[in-house]
Amino acid sequence: MHLTDGFDRTFQYLRLSVTDACNFRCSYCLPEGFKKCGSPPPLSRDELRRAARAFVSLGLRKIRLTGGEPTIRPDFDDIVADIRTVGGLKKLALTTNGYRLHERVERWHGLGLNAINVSLDSLNREAFRRITGHDRCHEVLHGIHRALEAGFSDVKINVVYMKDINDHEVADFIALTKTLPVSIRFIELMETGDHAAFFRNHHISTDVIADRLKTLGWAPTIKAADSGPANEFMHTNHAGRIGLIAPYSKDFCKSCNRLRFSSQGNLHLCLFGNFGIPLRDYLQSDEQFEELRERLISAVRSKDANHQLAFGNAGMTRNLSAIGG
Ligand code: 5AD
Ligand code: SF4
Repeated sequence: MHLTDGFDRTFQYLRLSVTDACNFRCSYCLPEGFKKCGSPPPLSRDELRRAARAFVSLGLRKIRLTGGEPTIRPDFDDIVADIRTVGGLKKLALTTNGYRLHERVERWHGLGLNAINVSLDSLNREAFRRITGHDRCHEVLHGIHRALEAGFSDVKINVVYMKDINDHEVADFIALTKTLPVSIRFIELMETGDHAAFFRNHHISTDVIADRLKTLGWAPTIKAADSGPANEFMHTNHAGRIGLIAPYSKDFCKSCNRLRFSSQGNLHLCLFGNFGIPLRDYLQSDEQFEELRERLISAVRSKDANHQLAFGNAGMTRNLSAIGG
């Protein structure tokens, strides 16, 4: 059984947001910090487990826990353990800002987490503090080293590439891959509803990096079928890789293989579509499994047919913490 849409795209990958709260204040995401706005509590452990089970039964083989910052949930370790027990799940991944990663990553490895993406937008202590609101550059780097020591073989570093903020640090990040077996992905800044001006001032295409990598002898790799949207490069003298994610490039959506489920139980078929299909009502008991599956199948089929405008919602996602980048 597989989930397919009207464009023959099959979905193998779920981004499951466990909270929309975050303890960082990244300038492109939550510059004023997270504000509680009276929404219901995030999905409980049981609701998350039921959602995961239904998606995996429909052929999704990889789940990424995301947020907000997933690890600020007091029951985060239990969530990892719960979802790991879902039969048929191949890969469980986490996207984190790296807060206290060094203290916790070994335990997560033991619980069966397979892959970690860590946000690290600058290698410079002061710039990192300015971007995130936290003086934790060293801590996050330490956490990344700890993840490798703990045995994680799939560690990625997310760098949101921004003009006049960190675009001069590309060489430093490249240097880091010399010895560290990680994949560093430069992500083009995406425009969100809250930050139109920030986007105008700081968006810059990653094409510049592609040209530079080619000059330095980096070779593009062939994409695996289930790989994400990054175009990856490798170099014989470097242990790590460099990836470029350019959401504004032509054909970016053609290879879309992911679905998003928000921490309020809404299914999002596209990051840039503002509407979510509310499914929380179908997560209330294990007996609703079949009903939930049917809902998911018909919702995903509608990815083609339903235009967002028909839902009276032409706006954009306000910030990515709401539905988990
Ligand atoms: N543009 C690009 N990437 C973003 N992220 C969050 N907001 C944006 C944005 N506006 C990504 C960052 C971060 C992850 C959680 O989401 O890569 O590492
Ligand atoms: Fe938090 Fe991630 Fe948004 Fe930064 S990008 S504020 S770490 S949710």
